Amino acid sequence: MAILLAGGAGFIGSHTAVELMDAGYEVIIVDNFDNSSPEVIKRIEEISGKSVKVYAVDATDRKMLEPVFSENNIDSVIHFAGLKSVGESVSLPLKYYRNNIGSTLTILELMEQYNVKNIVFSSSATVYGNPKKVPITEDMPTGGCTNPYGKTKFMIEDILQDAAVADKNLSVVLLRYFNPIGAHASGRIGEMPNGIPNNLMPYITQVAIGKLEQLKVFGNDYDTHDGTGVRDYIHVVDLAKGHVSAVNYCENHQGVEVFNLGTGVGYSVLDMVKAFSKVNEVEIPYKIVGRRDGDIAKCYADASKAQEVLGWSADLTLDDMCRDSWNWQKNNPDGYK
Ligand code: UFG
Repeated sequence: MAILLAGGAGFIGSHTAVELMDAGYEVIIVDNFDNSSPEVIKRIEEISGKSVKVYAVDATDRKMLEPVFSENNIDSVIHFAGLKSVGESVSLPLKYYRNNIGSTLTILELMEQYNVKNIVFSSSATVYGNPKKVPITEDMPTGGCTNPYGKTKFMIEDILQDAAVADKNLSVVLLRYFNPIGAHASGRIGEMPNGIPNNLMPYITQVAIGKLEQLKVFGNDYDTHDGTGVRDYIHVVDLAKGHVSAVNYCENHQGVEVFNLGTGVGYSVLDMVKAFSKVNEVEIPYKIVGRRDGDIAKCYADASKAQEVLGWSADLTLDDMCRDSWNWQKNNPDGYK
């Protein structure tokens, strides 16, 4: 039995591939390598000591994707295939809808045709919009996303819910990620943003290595302990392990289940700068600038449902996240190039 990782060469997909193989699963990766590198496959194999079957195809393309289903005995799909830049999604909304919704529909159609009943979906805490309270529980209202990227996550959750209503044998797990950072402890796989990073941790590591001059802290007038935005940063290896638990759960249940994957702890932008500087002994010059459009003050998970139902919780610390992010950046200054 194999697990199909659609978008499996990306940041979260690659770490999940390693953890699944460690847990004894056979892994098949589908990726169009638009926002990832084929080099990541070699590195996954190097870390795990096992080989991965790879299809360099676009998950929106039914003709290209069909052989993946016809040639393999797929037990479950983990659907990571999607574009993820909030800013780009505002300027190129159709690209985001075509790609993120299109890949979901193609995957679901082929799952139906080949009788594959289990799907784990990469959703995001962004579906909660601007939450009325923190920590966020899974039963809080979703919607109110301010950009097309977030809307695709919200819409895909709905599509999967509808598919599960129509097919009672379908098992859907929606994983709402908080803020994944860090990298594999080997320093061989990690995050590879295109161009100037939008997210905090890759920006910090590029300042640390001297590629960028200084961090811009987006606002210090939020209602938080130091005025800067608070997020729930989670180590990508913990997140990857959450997928192994989710696949296990998915294979033994029916219907739809939603889990927050976070640590339950919020850190501010300045907390992150301080922790990174201390652990890695590098200065991060920064300046306070105005708020970024669409940002919220605080977003962190109540992660107790995942612990109770999946038996999963995040183990790695903020120091681990800062150390591994820096280790990856230092060892791979130009990503996989
Ligand atoms: N920030 C800065 N400077 C930067 C980048 C970020 O101050 O250069 C701040 C932001 O204002 C925010 C915090 O750092 O307070 C985290 O920002 P990120 O961009 O790293 O993450 P977000 O929480 O904005 O977004 C992340 C994911 C999205 C997802 C969202 C909600 O990147 O995909 O969480 O789950 F939609």
